[in-house]
Amino acid sequence: MACRRGIILAGGAGNRVYPLSKVVCKQLLPIYDKPMIYYPLSTLMTAGVREILLISTPDDIPRFRDLLGDGTRLGIRIDYAVQDKPEGIAQAFMIGEDFIRGEPVCLILGDNIFYGRLGFEDALAALDNGAVVFGYRVHDPERYGVLALDTEGNVTDIIEKPRVPPSSYAVVGFYVYDGKVAKHARNLKPSARGELEITDLNRVYLQRGELRVQKLSRGVAWLDTGTPRSLQEAANFLATIEERQGVKLACLEEIAFEMGYIDARELAALAKTMPPSPYRSYVEALLTHG
Ligand code: TTP
Repeated sequence: MACRRGIILAGGAGNRVYPLSKVVCKQLLPIYDKPMIYYPLSTLMTAGVREILLISTPDDIPRFRDLLGDGTRLGIRIDYAVQDKPEGIAQAFMIGEDFIRGEPVCLILGDNIFYGRLGFEDALAALDNGAVVFGYRVHDPERYGVLALDTEGNVTDIIEKPRVPPSSYAVVGFYVYDGKVAKHARNLKPSARGELEITDLNRVYLQRGELRVQKLSRGVAWLDTGTPRSLQEAANFLATIEERQGVKLACLEEIAFEMGYIDARELAALAKTMPPSPYRSYVEALLTHG
């Protein structure tokens, strides 16, 4: 069965970007000209995922609702759920159990930005049993879950924040699971830092022989925005491409239109709800020049 549902996990403490995260969560901070959450949401929409559950803190859920609504205007559906405390990424599958309904589901972290030809839609379409994670070469793998590979490139283990990384391949914040994920998540024990670790969940699938790993090509950009410096670098990267090409990345209205989730009439109506702004002009221009 293909995966049609996606969770965006957008809570967490955001301690590394304090005081930016004091009154608003990290995923609502600007990345160049849009709130951060637009980028992971656009990744899901582009991959064909139209049923979305956004999980965040009790304080921030109302803000996300104000920003994004129920998704109808974009031809998608967005539900919301609260994570009371940041008790780990894998907890998302217990919080989202009713949303998942025993069917395949993907999860994207609210502070992960992807750019380029990712192949996520193929992974979602092909999912039958098991899980799929994606590896990406980075210079600082010790900050992430890291793939251990044998001489033939097969994954033998995934190690969370290893002091001595077994490879340069970090596991990125986009994961695809079969309908058993909530059950597996429920059997996890909290780690030493008190979290239900996504790496432990992935190791369950690995040990069952049900984990597939795809490497993202070096032509793709994977940016995470957990620190002030990486926030700045992501903004610079996206601004450079947007300004050079005269396009907007992660313009949700444009993606909804391009993917056929809304038609030209609905796009025009959406533009009319926006204040006069470069963003509105961009959306209006899509209707005249395509
Ligand atoms: P992290 O970067 O591990 O944590 P954080 O965002 O809370 O930041 P810091 O370490 O600086 O305190 O989280 C990765 C993403 O997952 C991020 O978007 C927040 C989200 N997250 C949750 O929503 N709930 C959680 O329980 C955890 C651990 C993370």
